Amino acid sequence: MLTLLQYPLRRTLDWFERLFDRPFGAKWNPLRQPGTLAFFFFWVSAVTGIYVFILFDTSIGGAFLSVESMTEQWYLGGVMRSLHRYASDAMVLTAIVHLAREFSLDRYRGVRWFSWFTGIPVIWLLFLSGISGYWLVWDQLAQYVAIGSMEWIDWLGIFGEPVANNFLSRDSLDDRFFSLLVFIHIFGPLFLLFMMWIHILRINRSRTNPPRGLAIGSFVMLLALSFAHPAVSHGPADLGMVPAVLNLDWFFMALYPAFDAWGPGALWAIAFGGSLFMCIMPWLPPLKRAPAPEVLLEQCNGCTRCFEDCPYGAVSMQPRTDGRPFAKEATVNADLCTACGICVGACPMSTPFRHSGGLKTGIDFQDPSLDSVQTNMADAMQKAREGRNREQPAVLVIGCDHGADLSAIGAGNVASLKLSCIGMLPPSFLDYALAGDGVDGVLLTGCGDGDCFHRFGVQWTEDRMAGLRDPYLRKRVPRERLHACWSTEPDALAAELKTFSDRLAAQGEHEETGDE
Ligand code: HEM
Ligand code: SF4
Ligand code: SF4
Repeated sequence: MLTLLQYPLRRTLDWFERLFDRPFGAKWNPLRQPGTLAFFFFWVSAVTGIYVFILFDTSIGGAFLSVESMTEQWYLGGVMRSLHRYASDAMVLTAIVHLAREFSLDRYRGVRWFSWFTGIPVIWLLFLSGISGYWLVWDQLAQYVAIGSMEWIDWLGIFGEPVANNFLSRDSLDDRFFSLLVFIHIFGPLFLLFMMWIHILRINRSRTNPPRGLAIGSFVMLLALSFAHPAVSHGPADLGMVPAVLNLDWFFMALYPAFDAWGPGALWAIAFGGSLFMCIMPWLPPLKRAPAPEVLLEQCNGCTRCFEDCPYGAVSMQPRTDGRPFAKEATVNADLCTACGICVGACPMSTPFRHSGGLKTGIDFQDPSLDSVQTNMADAMQKAREGRNREQPAVLVIGCDHGADLSAIGAGNVASLKLSCIGMLPPSFLDYALAGDGVDGVLLTGCGDGDCFHRFGVQWTEDRMAGLRDPYLRKRVPRERLHACWSTEPDALAAELKTFSDRLAAQGEHEETGDE
């Protein structure tokens, strides 16, 4: 059932992501990195929150007036207050897009259950932090939200005395209770930050900062909104009357009208039921996990490249156990491994040139082993060579499980090879493919730029090809016979393949290397 939801959601998000790619480019597209933006908006809320708190009077009598006088200062206090509010709203929005995106990309099952699972308390804490902030203004909106929230809590009956009684009459709310509300608004965000840290704990080199341009652009946008449409209060709270017209902040308060209509029981059922359902989602159904790779100690020299490149911290370096003259050896924690194969692509022993009688590398899967990948690659190259002619050079397309569908290509002069992730490809395999009687050109393809299913497959591949990351592609490999297409769109891949093939034909490379 969830898969039925996933597909249309992915199609919809994908449509918007590509729309936003046009003005922003893939790297600065806010829809492609909502998690980093949520972090950024947290920091904006935190910094502006400290400023606002300095000017805030924490007593029930002075709270409203202190916020009012802050707001009157349109150039600083008012802007800080508005930034604080709008950054919190933006955090809700980006967190929801992030959640929907991870779900639609199927990045929530298997070993990723941890980030998904810990994301759920993050949502609760985010709402607790935001809603408790609205209480502090102590205007009519605060009154409405505070009473609604307390009635909601009272329905559970965990406190002997109903908490909502604190709001019964003008005199029933005292400074002590108000201090409790202030306390919740300070510690809620602190816990939120703590949970955000737990949330990304298992992710190696997690990206918590958006690219600088996107951060500046988002900040300028919030600033412009703060000047154009400053955050203002409603009239002061008056417990003797029911607030009339309210402008709800729909990001945080969408459930309150539902509360009025359906009552607290239904709302708890939605909130708790929804959270529980989300908790078990990673196992509905559980991801069939491919076995993790194993380290072959006799090939491992402890160089740490697999450790550096693993996106999930599944590789660790341990003291040597086999007496060979190296300080360290790699070990794999299968519980953290997504079986992406990036470590296999990183190992300097993963070379098709060095071996006779089968390729043995430092870290490898049982199935498919890198040796079988090499065999499949040799078969594919043979097929492409057999199908080539003067106008159609032999091209090998190497893609991955999560990129564009390769089944539609692979006729005549073009053959394909699929890996679990493009980062599993050792650069020396490209050298091998383009040397001697290999193929005329290699086209690499995979997930969208900056959007790799296994996080770093595309980036590490690009860095290895550009000589920025070990193991790098040797200088002697003719770059004009290599091409990359980072798109999951079959049409985009087909178009790039045609252009690349035409370019190779014009270069006449296949005639020089030819074995026609
Ligand atoms: C304020 C809220 C949140 C923030 C700031 C946040 C931030 C992040 C960040 C920075 C990452 C690492 C991305 C990377 O480096 O590849 C991440 C990963 C992830 N987040 Fe969140 N997140 C939030 C809420 C949520 C929620 C509510 C869920 C779902 C319940 C969720 C699910 C995930 C998952 C499944 C991953 C793992 C992705 C992977 O393994 O590739 N997040 N989040
Ligand atoms: S297969 Fe991927 S997740 Fe597993 S150890 Fe290797 S790099 Fe890490
Ligand atoms: S990359 Fe290969 S040689 Fe280096 S530590 Fe990992 S397994 Fe050992």
